[in-house]
Amino acid sequence: MAQLWGGRFTKATDQMVYDFNASISFDKRLYRQDIEGSLAHVKMLARQGVLTGEERDAIIGGLEGILADVESGALAITSEYEDIHSFVEANLTERIGDAGKKLHTGRSRNDQVALDMRMYVRDAVKETDRHLYQLLKVLQRIMEENLDTYMPGFTHLQKAQPVTLAHHVGAYFEMFRRDRSRLSDIYKRMNYCPLGAGALAGTTYPLDRDFTAQLLGFDGATRNSMDSVSDRDYVIEYLSALSTIMMHLSRFSEEIILWNSNEYRFVELDDAYSTGSSIMPQKKNPDIAELVRGKTGRVYASLMGMLTTMKGLPLAYNKDMQEDKEGTFDAIDTVNSCLPLFTGMLDTVKFHKDVMEASAKNGFTNATDVADYLVNHGVPFRDAHGISGRLVLRCIAENKALDDLTLEEFREESSVFEADIYDAISMKTCVEKRLTKGAPGEAAMREVLELNRSYLEESKW
Ligand code: ARG
Repeated sequence: MAQLWGGRFTKATDQMVYDFNASISFDKRLYRQDIEGSLAHVKMLARQGVLTGEERDAIIGGLEGILADVESGALAITSEYEDIHSFVEANLTERIGDAGKKLHTGRSRNDQVALDMRMYVRDAVKETDRHLYQLLKVLQRIMEENLDTYMPGFTHLQKAQPVTLAHHVGAYFEMFRRDRSRLSDIYKRMNYCPLGAGALAGTTYPLDRDFTAQLLGFDGATRNSMDSVSDRDYVIEYLSALSTIMMHLSRFSEEIILWNSNEYRFVELDDAYSTGSSIMPQKKNPDIAELVRGKTGRVYASLMGMLTTMKGLPLAYNKDMQEDKEGTFDAIDTVNSCLPLFTGMLDTVKFHKDVMEASAKNGFTNATDVADYLVNHGVPFRDAHGISGRLVLRCIAENKALDDLTLEEFREESSVFEADIYDAISMKTCVEKRLTKGAPGEAAMREVLELNRSYLEESKW
């Protein structure tokens, strides 16, 4: 047991208590943030005259050595320390002697861990954004290639009206674009440095908090020391954004799973992104999409866990807050691995365009357009709706599409029909006629593609 406290105690901590209390097994992943934070703190302390130049240089040398050794594997972070902060400080003192004991001047583990976690989450936010960007690029490519890939659009999972694959995928483009914008809001709001808040009430040393903040790439120092050590809003906001990303990925996965089924056959997953069955030789399973859909649960769980952990905490720091880490790390790992996997799967999927188009035709997705045709020839909409409905009924009985009816058959329901009905209800016409902003018609879609292109260019990684 290596502890940072002890003066006030006359007995050693019970081993079970020590183990229960320790966080090194999971906060060891904050080693880089912890060391970077300490480097900035020490530079600031020396600049303010709290440490001498020699002390500063000795500490910096020691900390850089620890960082290098941890990264090379020469120094293992072991459970003999309570947490990552103790590990770094103990190692430093071992390396450089008494100067190491001065590192913690004007600092508490409360503001230290608040800083480490903020820096870690800040990096993770960027990482998530980078993965989202890659996904958006693949979506944009699929859109560009499928402006005239007709497919059924669904409501209630019933075929509704024809759309294009570009338009369908375009809906996901919007969702993931909003996800990026959420991340950028979170980043802006969280990018303030809590170091210097001390345990809760600041310190008596003449710290220059703005300087530390600047060294660490923050937009400034936080404004209230009690809030600084007890704020985990940014974790909650990030977990909420991650949950929304997973919800989007899960919906998309669900569609991929449906589309990959024998019943739909809209897509075929690449062999590299699907798996077989140990017993049924014919199987090619969409495991990646299923796992992404399934892992959504644990990301929501992290959000719920964090909200619940925080809900009853009085100001300022409470040990409950140590529970902010495992769930958050798990959610970060989950999302930051689901995103590239999903992107890879989507990038290699083969779309069966002919099956999609046939499905749109066979599902009477142009029944509204039959009615619109009649309306354009003077038939009141309610009557037109009835005529089109009766034609659909007939087609169902005869197991054919509306396009398969002969002109005579059309005219049995209404003499208004002429030979141009076929063109009027072709998938192409049905889609092309929909030219309002945001609709699947090619002209409207080309505008969106152009906007997407400049957005991708502006927010490039
Ligand atoms: N391991 C602790 C955490 O993650 C570090 C802060 C400890 N502070 C304290 N006063 N015991 O929250």
